[in-house]
Amino acid sequence: MGICDSTMGLRNTLVVMALLLSGAASLESQAFFNETGDLPCHFPNSQNRSLDELVIFWQDQNKLVLYELYRGQEKPHNVHPKYIGRTSFDQDSWTLRLHNVQIKDKGSYQCFIHHKGPQGLVPIHQMSSDLSVLANFSQPEINLIPNQTENSNIINLTCSSTQGYPEPQRMYILLKTKNSTTEYDTVMKKSQNNITELYNISISMSFSIPPETNVSIFCVLQLEPTKTLLFSPPCNIETIKVEGTESEQTEKRVELQEPERSEEVQCDTNISETASGDKNATHF
Ligand SMILES: *[C@@H]1O[C@H](CO)[C@@H](O)[C@H](O)[C@H]1NC(C)=O
Ligand SMILES: *[C@@H]1O[C@H](CO)[C@@H](O)[C@H](O)[C@H]1NC(C)=O
Ligand SMILES: *[C@@H]1O[C@H](CO)[C@@H](O)[C@H](O)[C@H]1NC(C)=O
Ligand SMILES: *[C@@H]1O[C@H](CO)[C@@H](O)[C@H](O)[C@H]1NC(C)=O
Ligand SMILES: *[C@@H]1O[C@H](CO)[C@@H](O)[C@H](O)[C@H]1NC(C)=O
Ligand SMILES: *[C@@H]1O[C@H](CO)[C@@H](O)[C@H](O)[C@H]1NC(C)=O
Ligand SMILES: *[C@@H]1O[C@H](CO)[C@@H](O)[C@H](O)[C@H]1NC(C)=O
Ligand SMILES: *[C@@H]1O[C@H](CO)[C@@H](O)[C@H](O)[C@H]1NC(C)=O
Ligand SMILES: *[C@@H]1O[C@H](CO)[C@@H](O)[C@H](O)[C@H]1NC(C)=O
Ligand SMILES: *[C@@H]1O[C@H](CO)[C@@H](O)[C@H](O)[C@H]1NC(C)=O
Ligand SMILES: *[C@@H]1O[C@H](CO)[C@@H](O)[C@H](O)[C@H]1NC(C)=O
Repeated sequence: MGICDSTMGLRNTLVVMALLLSGAASLESQAFFNETGDLPCHFPNSQNRSLDELVIFWQDQNKLVLYELYRGQEKPHNVHPKYIGRTSFDQDSWTLRLHNVQIKDKGSYQCFIHHKGPQGLVPIHQMSSDLSVLANFSQPEINLIPNQTENSNIINLTCSSTQGYPEPQRMYILLKTKNSTTEYDTVMKKSQNNITELYNISISMSFSIPPETNVSIFCVLQLEPTKTLLFSPPCNIETIKVEGTESEQTEKRVELQEPERSEEVQCDTNISETASGDKNATHF
C-alpha cells in the first residue's frame, strides 16, 4: 500500500466521506433489552482463509475486549469480566452475538481480523457497528380515581406505562365523543430504575367531560425514536337512561370495561349524572 505520506490524510478523508455517503461507515444494529444483539463483522474472506490462520476479536468503545478467537481457539484471557459468558461467535456470518443486552451496552463496537502469518499479525479487516437498545413500554393503562362527590362531571385519572427505553416523547389523553376528539396534555412524570435504566411513565390529570354524551377515553404514549403511538384500551363512559320506579327518569353514567380486558382493574368507577339513590344499573 505505497501511499505517499502527503496525500494519505486526504485519501483517508475521502474514503471516510465515501463510506459515510454510502452509509457503510458503521453498521447499525438494534437489540431489545434482555435479549440478544448482533455485532456484525462482515468479513468477505475473499482469500478463503481458514480460522487457523486468523486472530479475531471484538472490542467496545472503551477498548474492552468482548471476545477473542485465536487461530480457531477461544481465548477468554483477554475478555473483560463483564462480557464473560455473554457472547457467542457465529462462524458462518462472522457475527458476534451479545446476550442479555442491557441499556448500558448501547454504543459502538469494533471487530478486528488479523492474519497470522510467518511475519506475525497482519490486520486484514476491521468493522464498526453501533448498537442501540430498546425496551418496549407496556401498554398504557388508565385508572380512574373516583370523586366522592357523585354529582360531578369531573374525572380524575392516572395513566401509566412501565419498563421502557428510551424515554418517550409524550403521553397524553384523548377524549372522543361522537363529534369531537380532544387532546389533553400534561407534564409526564418519569422515574428511571438506576440499575436497569428503564423508564416508568405516568400522567395524572382531571378534566370535565361533557354532560349527556358518551365518551371514550384513551391514553396515548408517543415513543422515540419511531414516533409510534401506543394506545391504552379505551375507557368508555356511557350515558344511559334508567327508568325509576316512580317513572321519573334518572340518568346514570357507567364506565364500561372492554370485554377482552375485563380482568383489569380500570374504568371501574360509576359516575352518576344526577344524584340518585338508585345504584342499580340494571342494563349491566
Ligand atoms: C430477562 O429474561 C429472562 C428470561 O428470558 C427473564 O426471566 C427475566 O425476567 C428478564 N428480565 C427482565 C428484567 O426483563
Ligand atoms: C475454502 O477452503 C476450504 C478448505 O479450507 C475448501 O474446502 C473450500 O472449497 C474453499 N472454498 C472456496 C470457495 O475456495
Ligand atoms: C417490541 O415491539 C415491537 C413492535 O411492536 C415488536 O416487533 C417486538 O417483537 C417487541 N419486542 C419485545 C421484546 O417485546
Ligand atoms: C382530582 O384532581 C384534582 C386536581 O388535579 C386534585 O386536586 C384532586 O385531589 C383530585 N381528586 C381525587 C379524588 O383524586
Ligand atoms: C369532586 O367533584 C366536585 C364537583 O365537580 C369538585 O368540586 C371536587 O373538587 C371534586 N373532589 C375531588 C376530591 O376531586
Ligand atoms: C355534536 O353534534 C350534535 C348534532 O350534530 C350537536 O347538537 C352538538 O352540539 C354537537 N356537540 C358538540 C360538542 O359539538
Ligand atoms: C416501574 O414499574 C414497575 C412495574 O409496575 C415496578 O416494579 C418498578 O418498581 C417501577 N420502577 C420505578 C423506578 O418506578
Ligand atoms: C439505586 O437507588 C436506590 C434508591 O433510590 C439506592 O438505594 C441504591 O443505592 C441505588 N443503586 C445504585 C447502584 O445507584
Ligand atoms: C350512549 O350509548 C348508549 C349505548 O350505546 C346509547 O343507548 C345512547 O343513546 C348513547 N347516548 C348518546 C347521548 O349518544
Ligand atoms: C359500578 O356499577 C356496576 C353495576 O351496577 C357494579 O357492579 C359495580 O360494582 C360498580 N362499581 C363501582 C366501583 O361502584
Ligand atoms: C337495587 O335494587 C334492589 C332490588 O330492586 C334493591 O333491593 C337494592 O336496594 C337496590 N340497590 C341499591 C344500591 O339501590
